[in-house]
Amino acid sequence: MIKEIKRRRSIRKYINKAVEDEKIIKLLESARLAPSGSNTQPWHFIVVKSESAKQKLAEVSHNQQWMISAPVFIVCVADISSRLAAGDEYISLNEESPQEELKQIIRDTAISIGHILLEADNLELGTCWVAWFIQEEIRPILNIPSDKYVVGILTVGYANEIPKARPRKKLEEIVHYEIW
Ligand SMILES: Cc1cc2nc3c(=O)[nH]c(=O)nc-3n(C[C@H](O)[C@H](O)[C@H](O)COP(=O)(O)O)c2cc1C
Repeated sequence: MIKEIKRRRSIRKYINKAVEDEKIIKLLESARLAPSGSNTQPWHFIVVKSESAKQKLAEVSHNQQWMISAPVFIVCVADISSRLAAGDEYISLNEESPQEELKQIIRDTAISIGHILLEADNLELGTCWVAWFIQEEIRPILNIPSDKYVVGILTVGYANEIPKARPRKKLEEIVHYEIW
C-alpha cells in the first residue's frame, strides 16, 4: 500500500481518453466501503461527465480551467444541514463545540474521498481533489439541496503529466510520542 501512497500525485492535465464505467464503479465502491463514525456513511457522490456541467463547476472553482481536461468529475457531498461559519479568530474545538455533528460528517466523507484517490492510482487513473469553491455557488449547478455540503470535486482521468512529489513535513515535525 505504501507504494501506491507514495506514487499518488494531484493530476491537473489529462489525456483525451474516456474513463471506463467499470473503473468509475470501482472508485465509488472504494468510497462506499470507507469507515465512518457510528457507521453513519453520510456521503453521496455525483458522477459528472457533461461538458457544460464540468465547465460551470470549473468556473465556480475560481475558474480553474485545467479541470475541464478531465473526462469525469466526482462531486463528493456530505449530508449535513448547515455549515460551520468560518472565522479568523482562534477557536478551540471540542465535543461540545457548535455543530460538532457537522464536522464529523465532513470528516467521514473525507475518508471516503481518500479511498477514491488511492483506488484511482491503483487503476492507473489520475485525480485531483478541488475544494476552492463556495457552497452557495456550487449547489445550484447540480441541484444539490441546501442541507448538503460539497466536500470536494474530484477530477478523474488518465494523466498527461508526471508531477514531482510535493514536499511533506518530516515525521519529526508531526509525530509526538507519549505526550504532545
Ligand atoms: C481538501 C483539498 C482541496 C484541494 N483543492 C485544490 C484546488 O482547488 N485546486 C488544486 O489545483 N489543487 C487542490 N488540491 C490539491 C493539493 O494542492 C495537493 O494535494 C497538495 O499540493 C499536495 O500535492 P499532491 O496531491 O500531488 O501530493 C486540494 C487538495 C485537498 C486535499
